[in-house]
Amino acid sequence: MVGAAATVWPLVAQMNPDAATIAAGAPIQVDLTPIAEGQDIKVFWRGKPIYISHRTKKQIEEAQKVPLSSLPDPQADSARVKEGHDQWLVVIGICTHLGCIPIAHEGNYDGFFCPCHGSQYDSSGRIRQGPAPANLAVPPYSFVSDTKIQIG
Ligand code: FES
Repeated sequence: MVGAAATVWPLVAQMNPDAATIAAGAPIQVDLTPIAEGQDIKVFWRGKPIYISHRTKKQIEEAQKVPLSSLPDPQADSARVKEGHDQWLVVIGICTHLGCIPIAHEGNYDGFFCPCHGSQYDSSGRIRQGPAPANLAVPPYSFVSDTKIQIG
């Protein structure tokens, strides 16, 4: 338990911008190197929770092979990630139904599950089941290096 706390804290301290930065709505930079494959982290940008997922090969393949015609809000996985960085999914963690925060790594689609009314999103953050009308939004972001992104 002590060991877990010791490893988690530096991550949180590094990832979360200070209150003044959030209030200003300034862009934030996030170092991706501590995020292991299969792990998600949540940071805040403009007061919104942002999920950053380091997707596994399986999650990427699942996202890529889904026929667009089967999606309630059709969007190719390639349109939701940055070219050459397929392993990184960055989405705003606000359910498009009524605004709850979905839980990562839950649900039937290897993605996100919203506990409020049961919406399920896949490993690309696309709505697959439940009352939400649209995919989780992708915030404006870019890679400033291979291991660092800037959101906003
Ligand atoms: S707010 Fe997420 S399913 Fe209703």
